Amino acid sequence: MRALITTKDGSVEFAEVPEPHRTGSELLVQVSASTVSRGDLHSIRFSPPGRVIGLDVVGVVAEEAADGSGPAAGTRVMGYASTRGGSWAERAALDSHLAVPIPDALSDETAAALPNSGLAALAGLEAGGFLLGSRVLVTGATGGVGRLAIQLAQLAGADVTGLISSPERRAQLRSFDWLTTVTADAADGPYDLIVDLVGGEVLSRALSLVAENGVVASLAQTVPEPASVPFFWFAMHRGARLVSVNNTDGQREAGRGVRRLELLAHLAESGRIDPQVTGAASWEEAADLLAALSRRELDGRTVLRIS
Ligand SMILES: NC(=O)c1ccc[n+]([C@@H]2O[C@H](COP(=O)([O-])OP(=O)(O)OC[C@H]3O[C@@H](n4cnc5c(N)ncnc54)[C@H](OP(=O)(O)O)[C@@H]3O)[C@@H](O)[C@H]2O)c1
Repeated sequence: MRALITTKDGSVEFAEVPEPHRTGSELLVQVSASTVSRGDLHSIRFSPPGRVIGLDVVGVVAEEAADGSGPAAGTRVMGYASTRGGSWAERAALDSHLAVPIPDALSDETAAALPNSGLAALAGLEAGGFLLGSRVLVTGATGGVGRLAIQLAQLAGADVTGLISSPERRAQLRSFDWLTTVTADAADGPYDLIVDLVGGEVLSRALSLVAENGVVASLAQTVPEPASVPFFWFAMHRGARLVSVNNTDGQREAGRGVRRLELLAHLAESGRIDPQVTGAASWEEAADLLAALSRRELDGRTVLRIS
């Protein structure tokens, strides 16, 4: 089958590859859409050449899982290919614990932008516990995960602030007229929950903005620099915690991944969240889109049409 594989120079190229190997709980999906996201840049960086990447999966179930779990053949599904990747291909193996039917009213494009980013946003917010009335700061608010995190936090009743890299970037969040935004140097806090999607200096700053007994959820290393813990942090931010969060954690337990994907699909179908798809391009353009993403030139989530 045709697929995009990683190259030595940190990009992707087309190649003929074998059909995906599947475990007993994996569906075979005929892929119609995926996304270009920062996670794909990380996958390329940490993968040997020749690997099929791609995190978000939308398509039709071509073969059911051998153990009978998950949607039946012929069902239009969305899902998360998790750390395995593999959705930038004509067919992909998809864990039935991370795959759900797509409601008729949702387009392939909207559905494709939900799994990876939505599961990450939910996991980051969950780290803060009960959010009604909480002060929540989301860093990297203009990113694909950030835009879903600010909407989900607002739905949960939080008082939400988005941290943006510069005042000019506020224009990217024009559809969120209700949202308070700050830059790192102007943010003062304190915040009960900080969902950090940037890392480096932004995470260092976040640690100095967290409330007593608050949580800083670290999901990302968008920038290459390490973060540092502020001087006397333990004394100035009593009971505060820095926690690592991954959107794959615990998703197979008690149907959690499926319930979360169903929730995201339902919220998007009913117009309560918008994954902010700003473009859809053929997968022939994937290499150019990855380059644009690494230059921070993409505004919102870009969907890849796989054909
Ligand atoms: N832990 C997990 O399970 C998990 C799951 C999904 C994603 N992630 C990670 O979460 C992060 C966000 O993902 P995404 O898909 O939303 O990425 P994205 O769409 O590329 O967004 C990146 C965000 O970071 C900001 N940013 C980039 N470089 C920056 C810099 N030098 N200083 C300050 N801000 C900067 C961007 O702001 P500008 O608008 O100014 O460029 C944007 O808001 C990524 O690192 C991704 O790998 C983690």
